[in-house]
Amino acid sequence: MRPPMPDHRPDSVPFWRHVRMFRRDILSTQPARLYRAKMAEVKLPFLHSVMVNTPDLVRLVLQDRPADFPKSERVREGLRLLLGDSVFVTNGETWARQRRMIDPAFEGGRLRDTFPAMWAAAEAAAARLEPGVQEVEEAMSHAAADVIFRTLFSIPIEDATATEVYRSFRAHQRSSPILNLAALIPLPGWAPRYFPRQTRETARHIRNLITELTAARMAAIRAGTAPDDLATKIMTTRDPVTGSTFTTAEMVDQVAIFFLAGHETSASALAWTLYLVAGHPEWQAQLRTEAQALRPHLGGSAPDFGILRQFPLIRDTFREALRLYPPVPMLVREATRRETFRGRRLGPGTQVIVSPWHMGRNERIWDAPHEFRPERWQQAQTRACAREAFIPFSAGPRVCTGAGFAMAEAVLILARILCEWELGTVAGRVPVPVAHMTVRAQEGIWLALQDRRAG
Ligand code: HEM
Repeated sequence: MRPPMPDHRPDSVPFWRHVRMFRRDILSTQPARLYRAKMAEVKLPFLHSVMVNTPDLVRLVLQDRPADFPKSERVREGLRLLLGDSVFVTNGETWARQRRMIDPAFEGGRLRDTFPAMWAAAEAAAARLEPGVQEVEEAMSHAAADVIFRTLFSIPIEDATATEVYRSFRAHQRSSPILNLAALIPLPGWAPRYFPRQTRETARHIRNLITELTAARMAAIRAGTAPDDLATKIMTTRDPVTGSTFTTAEMVDQVAIFFLAGHETSASALAWTLYLVAGHPEWQAQLRTEAQALRPHLGGSAPDFGILRQFPLIRDTFREALRLYPPVPMLVREATRRETFRGRRLGPGTQVIVSPWHMGRNERIWDAPHEFRPERWQQAQTRACAREAFIPFSAGPRVCTGAGFAMAEAVLILARILCEWELGTVAGRVPVPVAHMTVRAQEGIWLALQDRRAG
């Protein structure tokens, strides 16, 4: 089965049509030549944008000189209703202080402590599956949201506030297509920033709920009764430079991004992985054999974190899915000074786009870039390609805080599902990737599930 790709637009279309297509989905707006092109440029009276598509330029922007290519105000504006001043949108010293306080909570040792909560979420996700045809994007969203609530606040998704955050968040996304468009269509400076009333209301409602959770946790920390989870860890970590901790208001912004970045992305990657596995029955059989290492733990207490080492093929499969369907398809930065990229002059304010989608499928770098070949990850040559062009979690100092967390969570949930369930594709239900806030399937991802518990 060849992994589905988006439609590609012809090389040249009028600008107005481009914008209309863009509003629908940013992936199908891109011409197929971008899988080979080293750079693409759009230059209009109010917009100058380049997509950099070579490892050296990507490295320059993300790793060598990230301070010269910060996140733009536009990205911040599109997300500010929901995320306030969270680490995802800030720059400079504000951002650096936030990372110093957040990063320790996601280090290896803490992941080990978080593992029992991930396990409980994986068990619950497997228990919710039903035999028959099922839409798995929704199921994986539910599972990933459950992981976030359990690891951050020690509550399952069934908790009343957690359920309400999850439900409101979905309503927010439906009412707020602008959330992703604002980030990528650079509106001219004079254009009005408009959020529909419903979007403003759902954002306020979500933030009120998160404030309730965070304020209650602050009170528990002061009373000495707080559980030892990620929220407590982050809220009690002192910035080694300034000695300050997050206030409740600052923490609300961070919780909003953990929820948003942590559940949408993982859900997208998990659902695409399940689809790819369903389409490759022989590979799936090997994964199921590997997943049997979980059998003694089913229905019982969490295995040791080290069990993840027993799932190398599942890990490679997830990596291959991230290469083909990176949940965050494009990263947007802004040049702050004059630059010359491949002979083209960029002024301050030029949008610089790095595309995990195009780098992961770059025809100059990968063998059979559009094919699902998880076994490629066992080859040294792939590791070299990955160093150049595998950036689903970004790279450099702004690399995803949750990358290790996401890998652990995904491998565990996949192993837990594959241990007992057989997945098949459904005739006539080929998912078409579109980029909403993350890369999703236009009509969802439908799979036929068969319960293998009996044998
Ligand atoms: C498969 C799952 C995930 C993927 C593919 C992913 C991908 C990314 C990417 C590409 C960025 C950089 C965005 C940019 O620079 O514009 C990012 C940033 C971030 N991610 Fe993730 N992420 C995942 C899961 C998570 C999880 C589970 C968490 C936390 C619980 C998380 C928290 C964050 C945060 C806080 C940032 C902002 C970092 C900064 O700007 O300094 N992510 N993620």
